[in-house]
Amino acid sequence: MMASSRGRATRSAANVATRSNVAAHSSAARTGAPPVPIAPGAWLGLLGGGQLGRMFCMAAQSLGYRVAVVDPGKDSPAGTVADRHLEADYLDPPALATLRDTCAAATTEFENVPAAALEFLARELRVAPGAASVAIAQDRISEKTFLAGGGFAVAPFAVLRSRADAASIDDALLPGIVKSARFGYDGKGQVRVKTRDEVVAAFDAMLQSPAVLERRIALSAELSVIVARDDAGNVAVWPVAENLHRDGILDVSIVPARIPAEIAAQARTLAANVATALDYRGVLCVELFVADDTRLIVNEIAPRPHNSGHYTIDACVTSQFEQQARVVAALPMGATDQHTPAVMVNLLGDIWFDGDEAAPREPDWTRVLAHASAKLHLYGKREPRRGRKMGHVTCLGASQDEALAMARAIKRELGIPGDDAPALRGSATKAR
Ligand SMILES: Nc1ncnc2c1ncn2[C@@H]1O[C@H](COP(=O)(O)OP(=O)(O)O)[C@@H](O)[C@H]1O
Ligand SMILES: [Mg+2]
Repeated sequence: MMASSRGRATRSAANVATRSNVAAHSSAARTGAPPVPIAPGAWLGLLGGGQLGRMFCMAAQSLGYRVAVVDPGKDSPAGTVADRHLEADYLDPPALATLRDTCAAATTEFENVPAAALEFLARELRVAPGAASVAIAQDRISEKTFLAGGGFAVAPFAVLRSRADAASIDDALLPGIVKSARFGYDGKGQVRVKTRDEVVAAFDAMLQSPAVLERRIALSAELSVIVARDDAGNVAVWPVAENLHRDGILDVSIVPARIPAEIAAQARTLAANVATALDYRGVLCVELFVADDTRLIVNEIAPRPHNSGHYTIDACVTSQFEQQARVVAALPMGATDQHTPAVMVNLLGDIWFDGDEAAPREPDWTRVLAHASAKLHLYGKREPRRGRKMGHVTCLGASQDEALAMARAIKRELGIPGDDAPALRGSATKAR
């Protein structure tokens, strides 16, 4: 159980977790006039052109908004569906000025967007999430320091800023993982270490840029919770996802997670508390480890919708992307209830290559679509690469077993490894 000296926040968030819907409580700390809702028809600005941005565009457009995307790539997944694509760097002054002059509000789909870009826009526009929240989440040192300082349980860690830091770490942190402070994703920027010498070598290999060393935890399961928070401090929490990774990349999310109800309630309360502690505005993902079957540890936070929340599109009343549009536009938040058991399977570029690296070929999607309750989402990326997220499938079932069986079948049919993993056969993940 998380240490909690933050009684008021804990109580109000516990209130949230008992209802899967939006909790109508407002934070006494917030003052000032409520924001004026931005009516459909207006332009919303988006920094980042990846798949999260693409799905945000689609949700915002479906509510009647127009979206302008800033992304340096030519055929980016979001740029190609946006009403306007500004092909420019995130700090490009003319592009930012265009957003400022044409949009009523702006958001981001990418945590590594420079905080300065959000700060610039925030001078004249409504921006959600705020630059300060994004800045915390984009640096593992500030993220872990913030979480630990707020009384949230994190894996024991040390900050590595110099070779001397690396050479003098506490042996209690071994075996561990050295993680670069910035720009890590999908397991990139991480090195597993067993000895001090290996810590120093890993720090050197990362060109001595700031990093954290984190003790390796025996994981009973990995979970995530998507949470949205609006200007008034209302918090909306989705059900808990149980996540299976392969090679450091999310492979499958099973929702609801197969964990005891009280752990699920704790996880949701914890996520709501993190959002409140950050004074967050927008959609946030809190990644959690379960240790010893019962102890929740915050792994990391993402200041945006998350891969493990894609199931919300097909299985929930309101998707994480629609909610992002609602919060950015200062509209009331939608219900987060899940109406159908779901298992999401990621589609990585690997399945485009059948032994022939030189000649990728499109997988046979009719095999997926032959499952009448499988929802296929492809991100329109031109170039498949191994490990690259190209799309996902959400398997909807009358029961969770049915959704799991469909996920196993689709993995097998597409040649995605792990179709017979025990975790996909009805039992929750165990320590690996
Ligand atoms: N301290 C840890 N103990 C055990 N496994 C870990 C630890 N930190 C990370 N991992 C594993 O590595 C994966 C990726 O690490 P994470 O910190 O979430 O980085 P990323 O930004 O790449 O998602 C996690 O989902 C988990 O499986
Ligand atoms: Mg992660």
